[in-house]
Amino acid sequence: MHNRRIFMLGATATAAALGLAACGGEGAGSGGPDTDAEPSEQTLGVAMPTETYERWVADGNNIKEGLEEKGFTVDMQYAQDDIPTQQQQIDQMINSGVSALLIASIDGASLSSQLDAAAAAGIPVIAYDRLLTDNENVDFYVTFDNYKVGVNQANALMYGLGLLDQEFEPASDAPEGPLNVELFAGSLDDNNAHLFWEGAIDTLQPYLDDGTLVVPSGQMDIEQAATQRWEQETAQKRMENLLTTHYNGGEELSGVLAPADPLSRGIINALQNSGRGPTIEDGLPIVTGQDAEIASITLIADGVQHSTIFKDTRDLADQAILAAESILKGEDPEANDTETYENGVKVVPAYLLEVQMVLQENYEEIMVDSGYYTPEQVEAGKL
Ligand code: BGC
Repeated sequence: MHNRRIFMLGATATAAALGLAACGGEGAGSGGPDTDAEPSEQTLGVAMPTETYERWVADGNNIKEGLEEKGFTVDMQYAQDDIPTQQQQIDQMINSGVSALLIASIDGASLSSQLDAAAAAGIPVIAYDRLLTDNENVDFYVTFDNYKVGVNQANALMYGLGLLDQEFEPASDAPEGPLNVELFAGSLDDNNAHLFWEGAIDTLQPYLDDGTLVVPSGQMDIEQAATQRWEQETAQKRMENLLTTHYNGGEELSGVLAPADPLSRGIINALQNSGRGPTIEDGLPIVTGQDAEIASITLIADGVQHSTIFKDTRDLADQAILAAESILKGEDPEANDTETYENGVKVVPAYLLEVQMVLQENYEEIMVDSGYYTPEQVEAGKL
């Protein structure tokens, strides 16, 4: 089995790790950067995983618009969460001689032959949001601080449970517990899922250790908590099973750690169908989230979902475009993390963006006043 976990390396990455794996094939017909070429002579291949999550649609639109504004041609493909489809799409981009590839993978370890082919053709590769693993031919990585996403999710959960105060310090009037919680993780083939989980579990651990928090199902390994392909229905079914198996004697469930908004909404459906809620005030458990999808922002405004984590995909797209431009000029992109993202073969230099916790008390400021969503969209719960 592949070990897709990330290792936090103590040592500073060597300068060699920053060098580009692919050094640019400039022959006509072959791909890769031509440092003398105008943007208009260059096509970038953009491989996206799925359109079922709102964020990937936003990411794709932002990247395409941003690159086209700079004069590049863009070949962007979505793969409907199907690995062979994504492999074929990337093969085709390589065959058509793109200048560089931006890849948000489905399974980070499934693209090795594509990455090898890209390197052989001199085409540099930027991993977009999800790390590409088990291969050396990954030049750069743009993402958010994924470990902090998990820390924020756990802090939001404990804030909702009254264990932490508004400063996220232990609350003076905290309930003694034990409080029952259940834990959900993302897809095991997505390296991010491991970092979200580690950040969350590291933060919850003291409270699990001293018995303030209890997981009645006992399902506390990421393998047990995982949600294959991040599918909403899978999370909803697992929540239903947990409720019938471990809460059929009227046991109270206080909170659920959910790693992404569609999963949060599946979990909330299962909780509401079991007669809990419909709002937190009415007794719905505290449910976390991620991505600040419009439907979840509306649920937060309505006091149903407790929190989400906002990751501004506009900034990520900008960062990816900057990295691509540097690579196309033959330069090393600016990195702010050269230690964390060991992909199984090498440390991939990365640029990490910050994340923000969104709650009922700050969603207007973060999501509406900033212009990300209009009040009408929040009212309607859709874009
Ligand atoms: C992304 C999350 C997203 C999840 C499911 C992760 O790799 O970082 O933002 O919710 O995939 O699409």
